[in-house]
Amino acid sequence: MVAMLFFLLLFTNFRATTQQEHLNINLYSSLTPTGNSSWLSPSGFYGFGFYSQGNGFSVGIFIAGIPQKTVVWTANRDSPPVPGNVTLHLTGGGSLMLQSADGQEESIISTSVPIAKASMFDSGNFVLYNSDEEIIWQSFRKPTNTILPGQSLLAGEELYSSVSETDQSTGIFRLKMQYDGNLVQYPKDTPDLAPYSYFSSFTDGRGGNVSLNLDSDGHLYLLDSKGSNIKNFTPGGNSTKELFYLMRIDIDGIFRVYSFTLNQSNLSVVWVSSNEKCSPKGICGLNRYCFQNDQEIGCQCLPGFAASGEGSRISGSCQKNFSTESCESKYGNIIYSIERVANTTWEDNPYSILSLPTEEECVEVCLEDCNCEAAMFKDGKCKKQKLPLTYGRKLSDSNIALIKVGVSKFAASPREGVEPQRSKKERQAHFLIVGVSLIVFALTILIISGVLVYRNGVYKYKKISSKIRLDEDAGELRKVVGDEVVDNLELERMVNVGLWCIQYEPPLRPSMKAVVSMLEGVADIPRPPSPTSFS
Ligand SMILES: *[C@@H]1O[C@H](CO)[C@@H](O)[C@H](O)[C@H]1NC(C)=O
Ligand SMILES: *[C@@H]1O[C@H](CO)[C@@H](O)[C@H](O)[C@H]1NC(C)=O
Ligand SMILES: *[C@@H]1O[C@H](CO)[C@@H](O)[C@H](O)[C@H]1NC(C)=O
Ligand SMILES: *[C@@H]1O[C@H](CO)[C@@H](O)[C@H](O)[C@H]1NC(C)=O
Ligand SMILES: *[C@@H]1O[C@H](CO)[C@@H](O)[C@H](O)[C@H]1NC(C)=O
Ligand SMILES: *[C@@H]1O[C@H](CO)[C@@H](O)[C@H](O)[C@H]1NC(C)=O
Ligand SMILES: *[C@@H]1O[C@H](CO)[C@@H](O)[C@H](O)[C@H]1NC(C)=O
Ligand SMILES: *[C@@H]1O[C@H](CO)[C@@H](O)[C@H](O)[C@H]1NC(C)=O
Repeated sequence: MVAMLFFLLLFTNFRATTQQEHLNINLYSSLTPTGNSSWLSPSGFYGFGFYSQGNGFSVGIFIAGIPQKTVVWTANRDSPPVPGNVTLHLTGGGSLMLQSADGQEESIISTSVPIAKASMFDSGNFVLYNSDEEIIWQSFRKPTNTILPGQSLLAGEELYSSVSETDQSTGIFRLKMQYDGNLVQYPKDTPDLAPYSYFSSFTDGRGGNVSLNLDSDGHLYLLDSKGSNIKNFTPGGNSTKELFYLMRIDIDGIFRVYSFTLNQSNLSVVWVSSNEKCSPKGICGLNRYCFQNDQEIGCQCLPGFAASGEGSRISGSCQKNFSTESCESKYGNIIYSIERVANTTWEDNPYSILSLPTEEECVEVCLEDCNCEAAMFKDGKCKKQKLPLTYGRKLSDSNIALIKVGVSKFAASPREGVEPQRSKKERQAHFLIVGVSLIVFALTILIISGVLVYRNGVYKYKKISSKIRLDEDAGELRKVVGDEVVDNLELERMVNVGLWCIQYEPPLRPSMKAVVSMLEGVADIPRPPSPTSFS
């Protein structure tokens, strides 16, 4: 037992001293992307310097000792890559500068006092000192997405995922060591509040200075301010000289502990924060939901939506694939219906919550509300929401998402698999539209016939009225009625009343009462005006 302890102490000491091995970098030292491109730690395991990124180069720390250069830290990670004709200088004035070919300078690491010396440690830590040999800056205190053995994430510090395997810019997820003692994961741009979190160590209230630590044997754990272990994530204990570890928040929002050996090309996953790859909130972007098949995840647009841009898996988005028209214009070119997506969960952000017993009622209520773009129905609760929908995820036995979708009346074709649902009002409106269309059609036919008949009528009228005007003194009117025996006065009265009644302009036509008076001879009959032509 004592021997074992002694051995352990010796071993720990050995590792500790090897980690203290470092390369000193003096003032006036420089690096170029294509020449001496990095300062390697004495073991050759870690390097500080240029690594290729995109079309150019970035400055950072990477594992140089394995075939696949793995980046563990990046300077100015959101700055664009630089071209191959730049130089990195530790200037005589005490600053670390990137100098472009035309002489422009950009600070790589800002320090409040001049740098006197830099060191690259075998631990992977890059350290800057002032002239009193005091540490003024170290990469271990400015983590990006990775924690190395010996490095801690202190209260208030956070890691941010990268955009992709080949782009170390800030991605969409973070891991925060909170001042309340809780280690929590959130999407990038959210407040530190429970509704946005997707991972928690459940250690809140354990003091103000809890830290996340990784040891060289792969042990990942939380220490409180007194140095007591309050939570283990991994057991550790596999301490060999050949096996190395790191912890990283990956682009998919999950954080993992990896192990690797010098002759191994890829890192091996030792531990994951979650096996539910859809749990990181917002992994599928807006208006999409995440589903997991075995080890792979996929993102699915809402019905009626299409992936915008390249539709890349992470942080892509879907947009409405139907032209939007004011919902109020019921008789516009768009018909709204509801399509359902079962078993999905979304950010709970309703503008109205109603207690409704059935899904059908929830559908009705959303269709009748122009502000309602989607509704979540579960257990008699109908939550009306506006777009975009975020944090979508397939989860059995969760909400039924009811999505309002507009379909052009003229290009309406049913989408496969999803049953469109129309409200009672919509159905009524539908019948009304059909009814009105039929009536309009009938009226059109009527008017056309009317026109034809009237044209004929005008011809006859002209004939009659000309006869009346030109021939009445000569009793020629009789000719109109042929050989029938009629009272001339009576005949003229009836013809005139008839001519008044077929006036094209309705206001000119006499009322029924006036017609009766005229026929009875009570009222005088003025001479009817000449009819106006249709054309
Ligand atoms: C690289 O650096 C070494 C010493 O640090 C120096 O001897 C060598 O000339 C440099 N090579 C180039 C291409 O600058
Ligand atoms: C440096 O390289 C960039 C990209 O290759 C090029 O556009 C620029 O002209 C170069 N500058 C000089 C001074 O050669
Ligand atoms: C946390 O650490 C800081 C700096 O070491 C110290 O000033 C502070 O008192 C500590 N807070 C607690 C609650 O231990
Ligand atoms: C230790 O090694 C064993 C066997 O290789 C492995 O199953 C276990 O996951 C390792 N533990 C850690 C913390 O690396
Ligand atoms: C890698 O190195 C380890 C330890 O040195 C050795 O046990 C293992 O067989 C090597 N693997 C390969 C693929 O060379
Ligand atoms: C290493 O990773 C790459 C890409 O992830 C994969 O194609 C390759 O098969 C892996 N190699 C080994 C030895 O696992
Ligand atoms: C909507 O998406 C479908 C298939 O995703 C496509 O065929 C259709 O043309 C799109 N409609 C519009 C209006 O973009
Ligand atoms: C929704 O989840 C329930 C419970 O797991 C399951 O019975 C049902 O088949 C699921 N429905 C769909 C459409 O996935």
